[in-house]
Amino acid sequence: MILVTGATGLVGSHLLLHLLQQGEQRVCAIYRDEKRLEKTKEVFALHQAEPLFDQITWRKADILDLPSLEEAFQGVTHVYHCAAFVSFDPKDEKKLRKTNIEGTANIVNLCLAFSIEKLCHVSSIAALGETLHCSIPITEKTEWNPELYHSDYALSKFGAEMEVWRGTQEGLNVVIVNPGVIFGRGFDREGSGELLYKVSRNFPFYTDGTTAVVAVEDVVSCMYQLMCSTVVNERYTLVAANLSNKDLLHQIAAILRKKPARFQLGRLGLSLAWRLDALMSALGKKRSFTRAIAKASLSCFYYDASKAEQTLNFKFSSPSVFLERTSKSLK
Ligand SMILES: NC(=O)c1ccc[n+]([C@@H]2O[C@H](COP(=O)([O-])OP(=O)(O)OC[C@H]3O[C@@H](n4cnc5c(N)ncnc54)[C@H](OP(=O)(O)O)[C@@H]3O)[C@@H](O)[C@H]2O)c1
Repeated sequence: MILVTGATGLVGSHLLLHLLQQGEQRVCAIYRDEKRLEKTKEVFALHQAEPLFDQITWRKADILDLPSLEEAFQGVTHVYHCAAFVSFDPKDEKKLRKTNIEGTANIVNLCLAFSIEKLCHVSSIAALGETLHCSIPITEKTEWNPELYHSDYALSKFGAEMEVWRGTQEGLNVVIVNPGVIFGRGFDREGSGELLYKVSRNFPFYTDGTTAVVAVEDVVSCMYQLMCSTVVNERYTLVAANLSNKDLLHQIAAILRKKPARFQLGRLGLSLAWRLDALMSALGKKRSFTRAIAKASLSCFYYDASKAEQTLNFKFSSPSVFLERTSKSLK
């Protein structure tokens, strides 16, 4: 029996669909709130795969609540851990650490206790190291430099990976994937969906940095192939392309027939923007542009996904294809 965590999120819902489309018969998934099952249902509906949704065994559990999680592990042999908390709001630091590090530690400990055959952990490029110049590619081997600035999210994903590597020392077989920004349908106002939404509202600004992008369909396909392979205790960068932020925004604007971003925001403009956002949040507005986002939007990195391409003989979909597919499904 396969267990999927984060099954009401972008990656987990597409993974469930992929597993069932591949003919997996015994698939169970955890959820916290019944209302969120609609998100997963919506993804199946987008693919005209509603009957497959009924094949999923749903178990109510929270990765921070051991008794419920222990129940969810009954009869399980393989685990895909996609659950995480994603936020760049400084107020969320504690929740990020708790959900992503402690939650992953709970998953690892139960995998060991239940003698799970293999765990697939969804990490992020945020948990990879950095190079000093974008002409030097970042790979799975690039070292993490604790002296450099990292967002709370990056620190929590790095800490989560450490828990998974600790599991390997205790005998657990794992594969880790480190995707770039993931684009997929069904999550319009969340994650990358927020970016599409902004462009659809004629967002006028761009910055000088780069964004590593990948299609959700490719992420889940690589995860499944890695779980079916004999590969263990390795991690894989999953990135289809490293685009300049301007190019990315312009491609989306062209698909949506919107005005392309035309004003470049530099360091000064960005620092004013995140400070203004902080001020507005003191007046009760939800944070939408933080220092961490400002820093990331100026960063220029080149992620090299050739390890995944070569190991799996895999060709990532072109951004023009998946950006069009995702943008066109915006409601
Ligand atoms: N999206 C991206 O661009 C991207 C890029 C790189 C890496 N990643 C990584 O990919 C993974 C999946 O991301 P995603 O985009 O699918 O995230 P998402 O859409 O925000 O979904 C997060 C999922 O985790 C669940 N979750 C959160 N806290 C939980 C808890 N305490 N107990 C049980 N479930 C919990 C959520 O459940 P509820 O529905 O109940 O909230 C939801 O199903 C994460 O590890 C993320 O860090 C994402």
